[in-house]
Amino acid sequence: MSKIISVIGAGTMGSGIAQVAGTHGCQVNIIDSFPEALENSQSKLKSILNRLVEKGKINKEQFKSILARIYWTANMDKISNSNMVIEAIVENLEIKQDLFLQMESMVSDDCILATNTSSLSVAKIASVCKQKSRIIGIHFFNPVPLMKLVEIIPTEEANGKLLLEVISILKGWGKSVVTAKDTPGFIVNRVARPYYGEALRIYEEGIADFATIDWAMKEFGGFRMGPFELMDYIGNDINYSATKAVYDGTNHDPRYKPSATQKKMMDEGLLGRKSGRGYFDYSESAVNPEPDKDEKLGKKIFIRILTMLINAAADALNGAIATRDDIDTAMTTGVNYPKGLLKWADDIGLNAPLAQLKDLHTKSGDDRYIASPLLEKMVKSNSTFYV
Ligand code: NAI
Repeated sequence: MSKIISVIGAGTMGSGIAQVAGTHGCQVNIIDSFPEALENSQSKLKSILNRLVEKGKINKEQFKSILARIYWTANMDKISNSNMVIEAIVENLEIKQDLFLQMESMVSDDCILATNTSSLSVAKIASVCKQKSRIIGIHFFNPVPLMKLVEIIPTEEANGKLLLEVISILKGWGKSVVTAKDTPGFIVNRVARPYYGEALRIYEEGIADFATIDWAMKEFGGFRMGPFELMDYIGNDINYSATKAVYDGTNHDPRYKPSATQKKMMDEGLLGRKSGRGYFDYSESAVNPEPDKDEKLGKKIFIRILTMLINAAADALNGAIATRDDIDTAMTTGVNYPKGLLKWADDIGLNAPLAQLKDLHTKSGDDRYIASPLLEKMVKSNSTFYV
């Protein structure tokens, strides 16, 4: 029998989740308190599916059957017979807690209740509910139909059967599933922070401009997008608040300190592509600066940012935020890194990033360069992440 999935919030994420669930044979209710959001979601999904028909990815029959399986409504009562409800509403703790209280009173005891929060604690959201063992974080990435990775975040009370069921549903939707501890940024949004933060720091130190730093990461690291074009794509407001959430949530760990440059950009409305200008100019007549393709400089930039990424990955492993394999899978399937960071560390040898961190720490006196104790320990014992 096909599963009944309800999605609350018909915005970017909720609509994407509904599309994926509906495409994989689930009956889907998508609920939003704003009628315009429901109309928008329905017409957007129709045009996305139309495009898939034009491209030959689905046929007309599939187009019809996917739409027939999805039901848009403002009526919360529809969730009552769901197997799983996924919340994707506004990122606000109190509003999410109110919704979870309401959901709990409306569904059967074995219905899974999930939140798609990207920066709030799943345990805090669950704290208002009676039956906490069926509450879980399911963190999808945008755009949901295209991004393979899903991070699942069980709370301390989560029951094993529920976990297996969630994993099985998500794998059935073609997703790559990793498990993360309920900590700020989970895996990807935490470990990826230095890609932006260290690039900004290098710029602030006057070592190179945006175009050169982007070029270095693509040329020597094989990254698909440089840090500055990526921040412009994500939006400086969104990227800044993701950094701030991790910084605040880690008790102001200096490694995640938000950048003054980025804050200024945000305050001035230089948000990136969506505002027409960020680190680069996106207007039609714009001429953006060319990178300085100095190989020595480029390699130096790449190694410094990679070192910081490796340190963040090692520290996530040290804090048991996820397993070695899940950390590497998260970064390759969630943000398309060319290689898992722990595997990359092994390939270059752990001595190199440790020495680089020590050097940066001595020269700058900034604690953001303190090496993860795990990295120190592994170098001492001459070990590697993969055997
Ligand atoms: P959005 O603003 O596009 O959509 C939120 C929708 O929820 C809106 O349509 C709004 O009308 C509706 N809504 C708000 N309060 C409601 C309530 N009490 N009951 C029913 N509907 C309500 O937001 P988006 O981007 O889809 O994000 C949703 C959630 O997913 C947030 O928790 C966000 O942090 C998380 N998330 C967002 C990602 C992104 O890249 N946009 C990535 C991963 C997670």
